[in-house]
Amino acid sequence: MKITRLLQASAIIGVAAITLAGCAGGSGGGDATAGSTESTTMKLALNQTQEHPSFLALEAFGEELSEATEGRWNIEVYPDSQLGDQAEYIQSVSDGVIDLAIVSAPQLENVNDDFVVFSLPTVFDSIDHQMTVLGDDEVVGDVYASLEESNNITVVGGLTQGARSIYLKDRIAQTPDDLAGKKIRVQESPVFISMINALGASPTPMAFSEVYTGLQSGVIDGAENNEISYFTQKHYEVAPFFSFTRHLIGADFLISNTDTLAKMSEADRAAFDEGWANAWQEHTDLWTTQTEEAIAGAEEGGAAFEEVDSEAFVEALTPLLDEFITTDSQQTLYDAIRATAE
Ligand code: GCU
Repeated sequence: MKITRLLQASAIIGVAAITLAGCAGGSGGGDATAGSTESTTMKLALNQTQEHPSFLALEAFGEELSEATEGRWNIEVYPDSQLGDQAEYIQSVSDGVIDLAIVSAPQLENVNDDFVVFSLPTVFDSIDHQMTVLGDDEVVGDVYASLEESNNITVVGGLTQGARSIYLKDRIAQTPDDLAGKKIRVQESPVFISMINALGASPTPMAFSEVYTGLQSGVIDGAENNEISYFTQKHYEVAPFFSFTRHLIGADFLISNTDTLAKMSEADRAAFDEGWANAWQEHTDLWTTQTEEAIAGAEEGGAAFEEVDSEAFVEALTPLLDEFITTDSQQTLYDAIRATAE
């Protein structure tokens, strides 16, 4: 983590401690129930900018929640990795230092390897299919609750990351052969490392917030992500060749400290769930329009987008299904997801 962000993060956590001390000395001493005047502000950690659909939808979620609970429950979104990187969010949410965070599926894969299924190529047919699955309690209910006892983390729900594609500093990659010898940044997880190896390139695990400087300094030759992050993180400035490999549709998850959720009254929890459902819808709607705007914006900034042999990429990655679906619970989840495909 960069020093400035580390300082920012400690400053924020310091302020939170003062607020908590204030609360403990106050009247309520814990339960924020209907009728109580106690107010709790939950910190939500996000590694995206304030233009990203996740920030916009989650800010709206916070406003709706404050209104519906008459200020008993509030959400303060900290964008731009101000509270650190996603790998740290899991521990912070588990410890209750942060109440809420958005983390990518590969981060949860490091805690429960069932989550790997959400990052495999061809598991989702489309964003629509993915959204149906991530909201279907029958399919995902068990895996979302799987970290409650072990880690004190509840998965509230999932958001799309859209299709992920590869971008490079020096060329369009028409086929996996064009990646030979290239160092490609990956999220810190076994499946993403194997993915880049399977394409014949060299994976470099790195936090999202470090990718811009990694590309700029030449530590990496390229990365893979969706169009919106490519644009909002300004990666196009330093890696202007975007190949539509669409090798998988990624998933993000909203995670919460389980004890925090348990402190809500039934009515406040219902307001939380409704606010989240609306945020999820807003995010999904924004995704399509912002993807088009991101492409136009990056093109204006000098980036080139090209359709390539995406089947060749997906085909090279098919062996990952056998490599990563190795347990009964992974197979059950995979089969349940595929059973919902049209
Ligand atoms: C996407 C995703 C983030 C993730 C990032 C990454 O932008 O929405 O949650 O951190 O990819 O590649 O690290």
